[in-house]
Amino acid sequence: MSFSLNIFILSCLFFIVSAKNHTANYEKECEEYDRYLKEFQKKYSVDEKNRRLKYFMRAQRKIDLWNGEAMNVGGKAKFGHNNFSDWSPKELRALMANQKWTTNQAEDDLVSLRLVQLLPSNMTYSANDSTIFIDWRQKGMVTAVKNQGGCSCCYAFAAVGAVESALAIAGQPLRNLSVQEMLNCVGGGCRGGAPYNVYKFIQQNGIVLDTKIAYTGKRQTCTIKRSNITISQAPALRGEAALEGFLNATGPVSVCFKAPWSFIKYRTGVYAPNPTECNKTKTAHCVLAVGHGVDGGVPYWILKNSWGLRWGEDGYARFIKGQNACGIENRSANGPIVNSN
Ligand SMILES: *[C@@H]1O[C@H](CO)[C@@H](O)[C@H](O)[C@H]1NC(C)=O
Ligand SMILES: *[C@@H]1O[C@H](CO)[C@@H](O)[C@H](O)[C@H]1NC(C)=O
Ligand SMILES: *[C@@H]1O[C@H](CO)[C@@H](O)[C@H](O)[C@H]1NC(C)=O
Ligand SMILES: *[C@@H]1O[C@H](CO)[C@@H](O)[C@H](O)[C@H]1NC(C)=O
Ligand SMILES: *[C@@H]1O[C@H](CO)[C@@H](O)[C@H](O)[C@H]1NC(C)=O
Ligand SMILES: *[C@@H]1O[C@H](CO)[C@@H](O)[C@H](O)[C@H]1NC(C)=O
Ligand SMILES: *[C@@H]1O[C@H](CO)[C@@H](O)[C@H](O)[C@H]1NC(C)=O
Ligand SMILES: *[C@@H]1O[C@H](CO)[C@@H](O)[C@H](O)[C@H]1NC(C)=O
Ligand SMILES: *[C@@H]1O[C@H](CO)[C@@H](O)[C@H](O)[C@H]1NC(C)=O
Repeated sequence: MSFSLNIFILSCLFFIVSAKNHTANYEKECEEYDRYLKEFQKKYSVDEKNRRLKYFMRAQRKIDLWNGEAMNVGGKAKFGHNNFSDWSPKELRALMANQKWTTNQAEDDLVSLRLVQLLPSNMTYSANDSTIFIDWRQKGMVTAVKNQGGCSCCYAFAAVGAVESALAIAGQPLRNLSVQEMLNCVGGGCRGGAPYNVYKFIQQNGIVLDTKIAYTGKRQTCTIKRSNITISQAPALRGEAALEGFLNATGPVSVCFKAPWSFIKYRTGVYAPNPTECNKTKTAHCVLAVGHGVDGGVPYWILKNSWGLRWGEDGYARFIKGQNACGIENRSANGPIVNSN
């Protein structure tokens, strides 16, 4: 124990001596970084560690800021360190779809054979309880949380996740399908894209199991293998009420929203981003809505992310519902449907 303590102190001393300029907090933050590296089992060369320490310190300050009231409107979310705390801004950008935010819903409709009617989104929640209205995980209809790594392909994980659930709900086995096939064959690969392109591809060609084309996180040559695993349609759902109706009655839905940086540091609670922060961002992030509920009077969506199990609430987030937070209803959500006859 004293041995590891010595190593720990030595490594921080090294930083303090080698740093050109540091604040009074430097030593403390450096020690915290060492603890962090241990907890997340990361090992770096001295140079890389020195470089990443400043990203970690920046993350630390952001977490303190976001845990304050002002950036956490209406919700009770907590922010904290995770595997991304010492990633560079460039690496962090890859977590998001890296796709310019647009509200061109006409594009989303390409894949739809029909458009589900826009329902009023002025539902009120007076209850001050904690209730889950629907959670498709509890019904065994959602595959395990995946990890996209450094590839900007959340749109593919969101759409494929929705298809995995739709097939299981239609009575087929719950199986992991090939996100990699979508990366190889659809749209922008690791440079971002939109779920509707994935649905369109699956409608036309089907999708293979992930054991056939395993995830590498890099775009590779597209070889379309025809598959009878397919969907019949993926209607665009306009408005949070339409999304709720589909979730209640049919199954999980892929959704995209303007991705605020604080989402990366989300740990637990109902995430309720400050509209100012949403407005600042220009990129979209796509995830899979698998349910909804209300916690202490605050309604939320249950969102399955593709950033691994150690992010958020075991890979999931609860995201405030009913206020079009971060424009969640400005791009159409899509819920795939499987013909059961
Ligand atoms: C060193 O840190 C101080 C206090 O944070 C700051 O005012 C100063 O500009 C920094 N100097 C350099 C060279 O970064
Ligand atoms: C955590 O981040 C490191 C890079 O800092 C990466 O190599 C590793 O794959 C990540 N692990 C998970 C589970 O995301
Ligand atoms: C919701 O909006 C509709 C149409 O604007 C209105 O008729 C209805 O009364 C509203 N419901 C509530 C609960 O405010
Ligand atoms: C899907 O893949 C995950 C690993 O990413 C694995 O843990 C899980 O068992 C697989 N699920 C199914 C239904 O095969
Ligand atoms: C797809 O084809 C396989 C045989 O190649 C068959 O076992 C399976 O039931 C078919 N699945 C569907 C959804 O038709
Ligand atoms: C969804 O289900 C919940 C709980 O049963 C219900 O309160 C709500 O009105 C439903 N919403 C829609 C749009 O059907
Ligand atoms: C965010 O942007 C929307 C649309 O441009 C605007 O209506 C709204 O006032 C902005 N909100 C804030 C807090 O800046
Ligand atoms: C309502 O929820 C809040 C936040 O969880 C809690 O502090 C408060 O005691 C609750 N009130 C009632 C009447 O249950
Ligand atoms: C976003 O959606 C809201 C609610 O549906 C709507 O009032 C607003 O005009 C939309 N904004 C854009 C830019 O499409």
